Amino acid sequence: MASFHTKTFAVHDDYMTPASAWHNIAHLLPKDKVLWEPFYGDGTSGQNLRNATGCEVIHKPEDFFTYEAGDIVVTNPPFSKKKEVFARLKALGKPFVAICPASMLTTQYIRQLFAGEHLQIVIPRRRIQFGKLEGGNVTWPNKCNFDCFYYCWKMGLPQDITWLGDDTVAPPPAKRQCTNPDKTV
Ligand SMILES: C[S@@+](CC[C@H](N)C(=O)[O-])C[C@H]1O[C@@H](n2cnc3c(N)ncnc32)[C@H](O)[C@@H]1O
Repeated sequence: MASFHTKTFAVHDDYMTPASAWHNIAHLLPKDKVLWEPFYGDGTSGQNLRNATGCEVIHKPEDFFTYEAGDIVVTNPPFSKKKEVFARLKALGKPFVAICPASMLTTQYIRQLFAGEHLQIVIPRRRIQFGKLEGGNVTWPNKCNFDCFYYCWKMGLPQDITWLGDDTVAPPPAKRQCTNPDKTV
């Protein structure tokens, strides 16, 4: 099993998912499956997903490209590697829900990977505001200037485009410390 160190990866990928982003889609996830959140960040995303869904969630600082776990991948990947991440998600063949920029939908690589493959889209009610992990601390600048979708595959959602309403919004994130044992960014 390959070990993983956050410092290996680009700092501009260190944008953490607010708990609300998982609460808002919890109703779309089956409760009897093991979820895998493969991109560790500060380590809180897995716990937030566990809290939101009640599911068993695997969330470990391992290299996504060599490690594999769980039944369904639910994640916010590093956007700088989204082409490679989606190619691996397709190769893994597991159902997935992955937060990525809305603009990715029109890229050639998504077309080549998922045209005719029943990719489904979930649209948040509000723009997701990510936390910035720096020096072991997460801050919430509230300045994200692009929209994200939840890209879903093999999830069997009732609609191909799901527009989320306001009713599932969780409280805003609290200030938090890095729980990554490496304490690196
Ligand atoms: C956008 S952040 C999201 C972190 C967490 N999933 C969340 O939602 O809060 C993506 C994280 O993936 C990490 N990362 C980059 N390449 C990776 C890889 N090959 N395997 C595992 N994690 C990686 C980055 O260091 C970054 O912390």
